[in-house]
Amino acid sequence: MSSFLLTRTLPEDATEAALRADVLKGLTHTPKTLPPKWFYDAHGSELFEQITELPEYYPTRAEREILLARSAEIAAATGARTLVELGSGSSEKTRHIIDALTGLDTYVPVDVSESALTQAGQALVAERPGLRVHALIADFTARLTLPDTPGPRLVAFLGGTIGNLVPVERAAFLSSVRALLSPGDALLLGTDLVKDERVLVRAYDDAAGVTAAFNKNVLTVVDRELGADFDPDTFDHVALWDADHEWIEMRLRSRTAQTVKIPALDLAVDFAAGEELHTEVSAKFRKEGVRAELSAAGLELAHWWTDDEGRFALSLSVAR
Ligand code: AVJ
Repeated sequence: MSSFLLTRTLPEDATEAALRADVLKGLTHTPKTLPPKWFYDAHGSELFEQITELPEYYPTRAEREILLARSAEIAAATGARTLVELGSGSSEKTRHIIDALTGLDTYVPVDVSESALTQAGQALVAERPGLRVHALIADFTARLTLPDTPGPRLVAFLGGTIGNLVPVERAAFLSSVRALLSPGDALLLGTDLVKDERVLVRAYDDAAGVTAAFNKNVLTVVDRELGADFDPDTFDHVALWDADHEWIEMRLRSRTAQTVKIPALDLAVDFAAGEELHTEVSAKFRKEGVRAELSAAGLELAHWWTDDEGRFALSLSVAR
């Protein structure tokens, strides 16, 4: 018998409270910052879907190529009976792994979007009789409690989203993932790789302007949720490569000196002409760096697969 279960680990109003805290902290900080998780309201999620289809944005296609080629190996190497996916969204990418894992008992998609979890979860249980789906509404950067399901466990964190975290955050995140695993359990991690700067910058500053719209959408979110009066048209999209940190940064540059009011926070924020609001870091990786970060968290790199052009990597590591 197949079944779909949904558990909310976040209070209904957690999102609103977290947004207020992040906006207050980020916009009173120097330099001004907003965390990338606030890009993804319904419109932002739609824009991100469009980004994944842009000619310049290669990571989604490269990762899909690897998943298609390697899902049988991933299944054989892990023999997972429980698959946990962090930031599962539409669960589209994971389909290949789910199909390959013949002994899979339970799929645990974890996401902040209840609608995405319900849609994807219902479709999966309808398609795969016998599979249990236990969806968690949760923020994967917070400590998670997983349902009591059979091992071995495989945790998947795909898309290169780990690149949104800076090194200290990645260390904490990987340790928290390791804490969800028993020795022998595995982590499947997607990481975008260091490459030609022009290729990287184009992927985050596309000709059609979709990434610019995606970046500016965070201002629309703050306007709607906190009653702010950001005018997205008064900001320019900036994407730059930081060669020291080996990450792409997205920023929003104020065209003029202006004051933005945020009534819900009782706050007025001054921008100088040309001042930049930092909205996203997207770190790019090398194999030895990934190996070292995994190892520091108690995870041993076992497989490293890239697409044919060597643009993106999937790694499989095993808990010690
Ligand atoms: C969803 C975090 C993997 O960093 O490439 C795409 C988000 N930002 N274009 C990335 C994103 C600008 C994306 N991740």
